[in-house]
Amino acid sequence: MKIIAHRGASGYAPEHTMAAYQLAVEQGADYLEMDLHMTKDGQLIAIHDDTVDRTTNGHGKVNELTLSDIKQLDAGSWFNRRYPEKAKPHYRRQTIPTLAEVIGKYGDSLNYYIEIKTPLPFPEMADELLKVLRLHQLIGRDGARGQVIVESFHTDSLKYLRQKAPELVLIQLGDDPETMNLAKIAQYADGVGPNYLNTKQEFIKNAHTRGLLVHCWTVNNETDMIKLMNWNVDGLFTNYVDKARKHRDGASE
Ligand code: G3P
Ligand code: CA
Repeated sequence: MKIIAHRGASGYAPEHTMAAYQLAVEQGADYLEMDLHMTKDGQLIAIHDDTVDRTTNGHGKVNELTLSDIKQLDAGSWFNRRYPEKAKPHYRRQTIPTLAEVIGKYGDSLNYYIEIKTPLPFPEMADELLKVLRLHQLIGRDGARGQVIVESFHTDSLKYLRQKAPELVLIQLGDDPETMNLAKIAQYADGVGPNYLNTKQEFIKNAHTRGLLVHCWTVNNETDMIKLMNWNVDGLFTNYVDKARKHRDGASE
């Protein structure tokens, strides 16, 4: 059962910053989740929203800002203000990382779970992702299968990646499992990523029957973690890697 650090250890540090990523590594996450958007000048950066307003002191759409603009922004102080009980001085200096910076730091010592947030511009975004992954030898001849998982709500992005890089593990995200056609998904993806709130044990069984992995998101309540682990889910996205490990491994807190 894989533990996927949702936006890094985002229960304890500002999401999608090196501080959140480093904490996820220290807590023993199996995968680091990165939501990707593309800047005006074609760089892939880790940010959830398509604007910088919620998680920085800046304003505007990511695809209307250059990387240089974005690198000036403070991506951590909002967290200290919002969660004073979790605030730390070094969060103030956090910036938005690029995909290349994160892979440059951790290399193949880490597993990456990458979401193409909005596929536009398509296929430029997917091609840039493949370029960066190949440059760092995370896919291709030297890549280890499973080191990089790509997830998306956008089926076209996944089908394109299946064709361009068959060695990638692909996960079709969905908000409502009841609307997910497992037979069709099994034709182009290796698994499904359903919202845990609507995930029933039968869905997990049906997905497994079709050879599909099931990675549920975003599970922060420990009772839900235990329930889904008992249902043999294959992975959990969580803001609290430490809590998930406690229930999976019996690891001491
Ligand atoms: O990628 C899995 C989960 O993170 C999808 O929801 O909005 O947190 O990216 P969101
Ligand atoms: Ca995500």
